Amino acid sequence: MTYAEPAPDQLRQIIRDHISNQEKMHGAFVVVDERTGDLRRLELVRVHERVGKTGDYYYSCTDMKDVETDELLDLDFDIEEKAGQLKVADIRIHKDDGIPRYIYGENDQRVSLPVAQLVPTMGGSLITGKVSFMETDEGLKINAVVLNAHPGKHGFHIHEKGDCSDQGNAAGGHFNPDAVPHGDVEKHGFQKAHAGDLGNIEIGSDGKGTLEKVIAGLTLEEGQYGVVGRSVIVHEKADDFGQPTGNAGGRIACGVIPSK
Ligand code: CU
Ligand code: ZN
Repeated sequence: MTYAEPAPDQLRQIIRDHISNQEKMHGAFVVVDERTGDLRRLELVRVHERVGKTGDYYYSCTDMKDVETDELLDLDFDIEEKAGQLKVADIRIHKDDGIPRYIYGENDQRVSLPVAQLVPTMGGSLITGKVSFMETDEGLKINAVVLNAHPGKHGFHIHEKGDCSDQGNAAGGHFNPDAVPHGDVEKHGFQKAHAGDLGNIEIGSDGKGTLEKVIAGLTLEEGQYGVVGRSVIVHEKADDFGQPTGNAGGRIACGVIPSK
């Protein structure tokens, strides 16, 4: 049996109706934040233009605002067709800890991004985190979140090898395809910094830090500037951009950059 595809406007309206029905029934639109288990009261800002289909589901996303904190969240809605009725089947926070997990491809299909999972290099440490990589017209967009680290700046680099064993030492030196001195690749480019010199991630008093950078020239493709199969290292101390590697001390967390 075949059904006519619903129009994008119709899908967007299903989402708006779902939210306003919840508001009518419960006095607010509420989702559970999977990271904390907390209930968050959200308000619709807008439904994105883009709608698509993946498997049996249609989907679109929305910009939502947390009523209490004013934080903006990107929420995904899956819509399923059952007995000729379109219904919201699932809702997810698209950006988990500020880390995008996928983008939309040419035919509106979801494309997963490679995400490096940061793990402690030493027993007893609770440091954790995620780093995602996204190709953009301006370069490779890198989003990171680190949790349970001590406050302050920590050197943050792509190292040459995708191996976190031996307390992170198996990751080798900074990713340095041009054999140039250490620096800040975002500011100074490949001729005056290692391609993996992402500078520092700043950790707050709550042990959490985030980073977002776009590095022109880095890529997820294979080749000289390809980062897949390498690793991300978080250091004990700040990178002061001194030679030869920024005086950032030991390696406290490491994650291999997967192909997807
Ligand atoms: Cu490093
Ligand atoms: Zn370096």
